[in-house]
Amino acid sequence: MKIYDGGKIIVGLIVFVGLFTFPFVYNIGKANVMPEPKINTPAINELTEKKCVESKQFMRAEHMQLLNQWRDWAVRKGERVYVNSEGKPYTISLQNTCMHCHSNKKEFCDQCHNYMAVNPYCWNCHIAPKEKES
Ligand code: HEC
Ligand code: HEC
Ligand code: HEC
Repeated sequence: MKIYDGGKIIVGLIVFVGLFTFPFVYNIGKANVMPEPKINTPAINELTEKKCVESKQFMRAEHMQLLNQWRDWAVRKGERVYVNSEGKPYTISLQNTCMHCHSNKKEFCDQCHNYMAVNPYCWNCHIAPKEKES
C-alpha cells in the first residue's frame, strides 16, 4: 500500500516537474536569440561608410545618454550641431538625424526595446518615421 502510493507520488512529481519547467526550457532558445536591429534603410544604404554618429559599441551602450545630452544641448543651450569624436558634424535632432538614417523604427529601435522591455516615451511628442504597417 505504502510502496504503491509512493510510486504514484513519484510519477506525479515527475509529471509536475515536467509541466512546471516546460515553459522555461521551451523559452530558453527563444530568449537567447538576440534581436538583430536592421540597418538596411534607404539613407543608410546611400552611405559610403556605414557608420553611426559614434562607434557601434558606443551607440549600443550610450545612445540613451547621448539623446539626453542632445536634448539638453538643444533645448537649454540652443546648440544645434553635434561634433562627434572624429570631428564630423551632425544636426542635433532625434527626428531629422537619428530617424532619418534609422527610418525603420520598428525593425531597429523597437527590436531591441521590445526584447529588453523598455518603452521610451519619446514618441508621445516626437514624430516616429512613417512606416509600412507590418
Ligand atoms: C548617418 C546615418 C546615421 C545616423 C544619423 C544615426 N545612425 Fe545609428 N547607426 C547607423 C549605422 C550605419 C549603424 C551601424 C553601425 C555599424 O554597424 O558599425 C548604426 C548603429 C546604431 C546603434 C547600434 C545598433 C547595434 O546593432 O548595436 C544604435 C543604438 C544607433 N545607431 C542609434 C542611433 C541614434 C540614437 C541616433 C541619433 C542620435 C543615430 N543612431 C544616428 C547610422 C546612423
Ligand atoms: C542594440 C539595441 C538597441 C537599439 C538598436 C536601440 N536601442 Fe534604445 N535602448 C536599448 C536598451 C538596452 C535600453 C535600456 C538601457 C537602460 O535601461 O540602461 C535603451 C533605452 C533607450 C532610451 C531610454 C529609455 C528609458 O526609458 O530610459 C531611449 C530614449 C532610446 N533607447 C532610444 C532609442 C532610439 C531612438 C533608437 C533607434 C534610433 C534606439 N534606442 C535603438 C537598446 C537599443
Ligand atoms: C512632452 C513632450 C516630449 C517628450 C515626451 C519628449 N520630448 Fe524631446 N523635445 C520636445 C520638445 C518640445 C523639444 C524642442 C524641440 C525644438 O526645440 O526643436 C524636444 C527636443 C528634443 C531634442 C533636441 C531637438 C530635436 O529636434 O530632436 C532631442 C534630442 C529630444 N527632444 C529627445 C527626446 C528623447 C530621446 C525623448 C524620450 C526619452 C524625448 N525627447 C521625449 C518634447 C518632448
